[in-house]
Amino acid sequence: MTARVPTIVLGGTGYVAGELLRLVSAHPYLDIAAVASDSQPDEPVAQFFRHLQPVLPHLRFVGHDEVLEYVAANPVTAVFSAAPHGVSAALVDRLLSAAAQAGTSPRVVDISADFRYRSAEAYEAVYKHPHGAPSRIAEFTCAVPEHLNALHTPHVAHPGCFATAVLLASVPLLALGLADQRVFVTGVTGSTGSGRQPTTGTHHPQRHADMYAYNALAHRHEPEIAALALAATGVEAEFNFVPHSGPFARGIYVTVQAVARAPLTTHELVAALRDYYEQSIFVRVGGEPPRIKDVVASNFAELSGVARGHNVVVTCAIDNLTKGAAGGAVQWMNRMLGFEETAGLMMPAAGWT
Ligand SMILES: NC(=O)c1ccc[n+]([C@@H]2O[C@H](COP(=O)([O-])OP(=O)(O)OC[C@H]3O[C@@H](n4cnc5c(N)ncnc54)[C@H](OP(=O)(O)O)[C@@H]3O)[C@@H](O)[C@H]2O)c1
Repeated sequence: MTARVPTIVLGGTGYVAGELLRLVSAHPYLDIAAVASDSQPDEPVAQFFRHLQPVLPHLRFVGHDEVLEYVAANPVTAVFSAAPHGVSAALVDRLLSAAAQAGTSPRVVDISADFRYRSAEAYEAVYKHPHGAPSRIAEFTCAVPEHLNALHTPHVAHPGCFATAVLLASVPLLALGLADQRVFVTGVTGSTGSGRQPTTGTHHPQRHADMYAYNALAHRHEPEIAALALAATGVEAEFNFVPHSGPFARGIYVTVQAVARAPLTTHELVAALRDYYEQSIFVRVGGEPPRIKDVVASNFAELSGVARGHNVVVTCAIDNLTKGAAGGAVQWMNRMLGFEETAGLMMPAAGWT
C-alpha cells in the first residue's frame, strides 16, 4: 500500500487553491494537511468553497506559521503554491528554509509565475519587480509534463494556463520540424483565469456576454511561452499571441496557425499529432475541432489539426483551472512522488456547466 502524503496549499482562498482542494480531496495518495490563508486564518474552508462542504466539512484555513510546522514535522510533504506571482517566491523560500532546518524534504509545485524563468533578471524584465527568492530559481524546472521526461530539480514551476494550451498545440509542430518558427496564436480564456478579485476589465458584468482581445502581441506570458518552447524543442520560435476574454467562467481555447515547411494534408497533420502524444494519456487528438465543454473540470486537453498546403491550424481546449493550473500541478506532483501520473486525475469533463 502506498503511504499517503500530507499536502499543503498556499494562496488558500484563490480559485486555483479551491480547485487544488477539490482534486486533492479525491486523490488516492494525497491528504490535505493544511491550507494557508493570509486573509481568512481560522475560518472554515467550506464557507469560502461551498461546493467542497461534502468532502471537507471540518477543514479550516491556517496561517503561514502553522504551515511551517507541518513542513518541519513531516519527512515529506506535497506543497502546492497558488499564491500570486510576486508573493509566492518568498512564501516558498520561507517554507523550504524551515524544512532545511528541520531536515525534511517537501516537494513543491509553484503555480505562480515566480519560478518560470531561469534567472531573476529575466523574470524582473517581464514582471517589473524584484524576484522574491533568486537563490531558489535553480531548484525549479518549468515545463508542461507532456514535454519533459526526466526531471532533474526537486521542485517544479507550472507553466500556467495559456502557456499549457499554446505549448500543447505548437510544440509538436516545432519539435517535428513540420512548421516554420513564426507561430500565430489566438487564445480565448474564461473569467476564472483572472482570479478572485474583480477589476473593471475582469468583472463578470463586463465579460459575460462579450468578447474582446487584450494585450495583443504584448501579453506577459508570450516570452514564457517562447522560452518553454525552446526548452522543449530546441527551436527558437517567434510567438505572436493575441489573448481574448471569453464569455464563460472556465476554459481556454487556443488556435495556433503556422506555415508548414512542406505541403501537408489534414490526415498527415492529425497523424503526426497523435503520434507525438501517443504516450500522453491526458492529451487526446480528435478529428473534429475540440470543444471547451469536453474538457471543463478535467485534466484532459483536446487537440485537433487542419492543414491545406503550407497552411497549418492546430486547436487546443483545456480547463484553465485544472490542466492549466491545479490538475497539471497534481500531475507533476504524482510524478515527483513516484505515483502513477494519472492518480486522482482521471475524472472526465463535466460536459455541461
Ligand atoms: N486562475 C487561473 O486560471 C490560473 C491558471 C494558471 C496559473 N494561475 C496562477 O495561480 C495563482 C493563483 O491564481 P488564482 O486565480 O487562484 O488567484 P486568486 O483567485 O486571485 O487567488 C490568489 C490567492 O492568493 C492569496 N494571496 C496571498 N497573498 C496575496 C496578496 N499579496 N495579494 C493577493 N492575494 C494574495 C489570497 O488568498 P489568501 O488571502 O487566502 O491567502 C488569494 O485569494 C496565481 O499566481 C496565478 O497567476 C492561475
